[in-house]
Amino acid sequence: MNQFEEGFIFGAATAAYQAEGAVTVGGKGKTYWDDYLEAQGVFDPSTASDFYHKYPEDLSLCQQFGINGIRISIAWSRIFPEGTGEPNQQGVEFYHGLIDECLKNKVEPFVTLHHFDTPEALYQKGDWLSKEMVEAYVAFASFCFKEYASKVSYWITINEPWSVVAGQYIIGHFPPNIKYDITKAIQSMHNMLVGHARVVKVFKEHKYPGEIGIVHILESKYPIDDQLSSAQAAKNEHIVANQFLLDGTFKGSYQADTMAIINDVLKKNNGTLETTPEEFEVLALAAEELDFLGINYYASHFLAAYDGESHIHHNGSGEKGSSIFALKGIGERVNNPTIPATDWDWPIYPQGLLDMLVEISQRYPNYHKMYVTENGMGDKDVLENGTVSDDNRIDYVFLHLEAIQQAISQGVNVQGYFMWSLMDVFSWTNGYNKRYGLFYIDFATQTRYPKKSAHWFNSVSRSQKLIS
Ligand code: BG6
Repeated sequence: MNQFEEGFIFGAATAAYQAEGAVTVGGKGKTYWDDYLEAQGVFDPSTASDFYHKYPEDLSLCQQFGINGIRISIAWSRIFPEGTGEPNQQGVEFYHGLIDECLKNKVEPFVTLHHFDTPEALYQKGDWLSKEMVEAYVAFASFCFKEYASKVSYWITINEPWSVVAGQYIIGHFPPNIKYDITKAIQSMHNMLVGHARVVKVFKEHKYPGEIGIVHILESKYPIDDQLSSAQAAKNEHIVANQFLLDGTFKGSYQADTMAIINDVLKKNNGTLETTPEEFEVLALAAEELDFLGINYYASHFLAAYDGESHIHHNGSGEKGSSIFALKGIGERVNNPTIPATDWDWPIYPQGLLDMLVEISQRYPNYHKMYVTENGMGDKDVLENGTVSDDNRIDYVFLHLEAIQQAISQGVNVQGYFMWSLMDVFSWTNGYNKRYGLFYIDFATQTRYPKKSAHWFNSVSRSQKLIS
């Protein structure tokens, strides 16, 4: 029972902006984070984990520690500094070098085309709310396929549309820092799905080798008690954050039960969703052709009804108990005292991953292949004697891998697991103090130290067996 099938990938994940650093090196253009973070003056992303220079060392660590898959993303503004126009050859060469190094070390690269880092020039034009952005994204993706498809077997169109729009338009901790605008959030998710679908179409039309998928963050939503109104709140958040995207991805249209809630939420927020028949045509086509789904899972949420105005406080400091997340027309996330949580108030609930995997395979039975593309535990790690005794993280990952094994035994086809993150990286809204890596980084010297979890993960990967 605790054995994984041969070929199951034990990988780790990174994202360009969070790992590479070198934000002004090699002709790279700005993303929408650069000026914003500089103006805030709280977190400096300019060096991050220095993956830009250190990737040979990091890939060699992967090989040594049994990590046989890696998620990397291509920084769009490294290839097209202004988002469109002439490619920057130094950026193009950088990703050739990085991909070659993955292959040399027998670490399968899963390459993401958009991981939260829209180029500044396109952000100024409205980001995913503008049609120009979608066109530019299709051109960027087409360029990447032409350039790298001969050596990349797994492509990911977009990372976590929900997190992008929640950050930009609901929580307001991603630029443009708009709060509680659920209408913009839903519209932007739709546009991202259209961008994704058009890119899948290009990939399939050109018959590139390899597979293409999308990554969604999919966290289960439960009622906090047995009141009907709590059940409704859980359903509302599930539909807005999960099912809307899953329907668009896998069915190519939003089903009646989804639209009933979406329309209700839009009405309560005085909004509408704009779509065209052509968009649904391409969504349907991509739904047919998509090869896999990537699921990012960290936490589940427990909800109660909420009648007031939207009210959110983001816990970005690790001060336990400081989160508030209450949305008009949806519901309120409440603390469940029976479930442990991280210092950032993320409930640790592996059952939520199992439930989600089963639910997806039941609602979308035409889709069989999934990867857990991110899972991990953010913590305030302490380096002692050259390592970190991160037993909490090992327990966390163990329980989530166990949930995956249970899902597999119920017939769900999960083919791999990527820990977030390979090494400690820059966290968009929490800086450097919230660490997830298998390798600890001393950010002053950029030295890597394997944590206890890296040794444990190595033995799980090499034996393909879940051992505690
Ligand atoms: C995922 C993102 O949502 O969660 C990553 O894909 C992110 O980019 C990770 O870093 C962890 O989130 P956070 O806010 O703790 O850094």
